[in-house]
Amino acid sequence: VPPPPIHYPRFPNGQQVPMESKNESWSFPRDFWWGVAGAAYQVEGAAKADGRGPSVWDVLAHRVTGFVTDSSTADVTNNNYYMYKDDIARIAALGVKTYSFSLSWSRIFPFGRGAVNEVAIAHYNDIIDTCIQHDVIPMVTLYHWDTPLALQDTYGGWLSENIVNDFVEYARVVYGRFGDRVKYWFTLNEPIVFCQQYPLPANYFKNFTVPNEQQSFHCGQSVLLAHSKAYRLGKSMMPNSNGGYKIPLTDSEEDARAVQRAWDFNEGWFSDPVYLTGDYNSAVKNYVSTFLRPFTESEKQAIKGSGDLYAHDAYTSQFYYAPEGGVDACVNDPSHPSYPVCADTQYTYKKGWLIGPAADPLAPWLHKATDWVPQFLRYMKDTWADPAGNLPIAVTEFGFAEPYEAQKTLLKDILYDPIRVSYYRDYMEAILMAMSEGVNVVGCLAWSLYDNFEEQWASGFAVRFGMQYVDFTDPQLPRYYKASFFEYKRAFDVYQE
Ligand code: NOJ
Repeated sequence: VPPPPIHYPRFPNGQQVPMESKNESWSFPRDFWWGVAGAAYQVEGAAKADGRGPSVWDVLAHRVTGFVTDSSTADVTNNNYYMYKDDIARIAALGVKTYSFSLSWSRIFPFGRGAVNEVAIAHYNDIIDTCIQHDVIPMVTLYHWDTPLALQDTYGGWLSENIVNDFVEYARVVYGRFGDRVKYWFTLNEPIVFCQQYPLPANYFKNFTVPNEQQSFHCGQSVLLAHSKAYRLGKSMMPNSNGGYKIPLTDSEEDARAVQRAWDFNEGWFSDPVYLTGDYNSAVKNYVSTFLRPFTESEKQAIKGSGDLYAHDAYTSQFYYAPEGGVDACVNDPSHPSYPVCADTQYTYKKGWLIGPAADPLAPWLHKATDWVPQFLRYMKDTWADPAGNLPIAVTEFGFAEPYEAQKTLLKDILYDPIRVSYYRDYMEAILMAMSEGVNVVGCLAWSLYDNFEEQWASGFAVRFGMQYVDFTDPQLPRYYKASFFEYKRAFDVYQE
């Protein structure tokens, strides 16, 4: 089947961002955390090796028909469990300073709690040491969505506050084992996303009698408690949030309110408690008050201020609008579990991602990173980072999946990824714009080092975000640099102090 035509122009003549646009007064300081990110389930493989226990994702990928669109699993995926030395050498070749990865909780605690699996500890010790040998700073995320299955089966995973103690014990152990060399820790990756993955498919997981529309918020409650307690164990632990920059579709008051609702129920759901008040904002509180218990005063105190940095995964911008005045339906029904989300509309590019390489007369709604990233960073600064005590900000993930990339067949085409090149170039410039306006951005981590098991993980290998191509059809899983790999390095080097 021939790949569908790519409607979006590939580098139309003259549209490459000329490097002369470099503003001489802009630069990344020497200690800027410039790096790449990945996550355990998406890249490790070795699903049954060395005593790893199963996680909920093993069930989702293996047993729930249709959950992953291309029916793949991450049993092998990038085989990073065995190939990490090569992967870290490639990170060093890229020249970046940091590698952000997550630990597999069920590798370390195969049953989620109880006995520690020393083979897993030795494995992550070696990853950390290899990073250090290469002068790459390891940044570690404790949890990137792969809840140990045993905890899901026993009490419903994040649906139950029982998970708080198990998570804190896990944090205590890994902090003790790796904390001598790992200085930067993230507690939980994108709670907005994984909490909205509840309810997990019926018939495969026990329901634990929590009504469907309440499940995400029960998860959120456990997350805030678990995060704040883990944070209080040791400093430098923060959650990282996720979400696009929210732009009203029109100047109407209704659309402005739709945007505010989106901030309240997305970033604000977690960021308001952690960075501002220790409790939910009033929009979330109104919604959850009938079914969640209120936080106690001491819980609020533990939650408030439990971040040393504002960490956000910022991939794209999105339009929000009130349905009455809108073009299409935007879910703004507070009883919807993933409220508020926008349906795909004529305004969307890829699943609502509004990003493009440059202003395009055929697609004027696509935003270059320079059109929205500086505004977004300023919004984070004004809304959360500054009120929390002038915290620095880090973009803990950013990246781009080229449309139809997975349908390319020739290696030379696969390695030529001009839209991603342009995205990285614009994004680096956009961060510098924000920094030149006084936003204290201390790092950025590109997603991702290589193609892997992807995209809220429902697309398997059908969507690619990598700056390296991995030939998953070859048992050796060879990695190849794409053009964007070189561009990421170059764009940084041009601006490095
Ligand atoms: C953010 C998530 O943290 C990561 O797991 C995912 O692959 C990327 N977004 C791309 O969707």
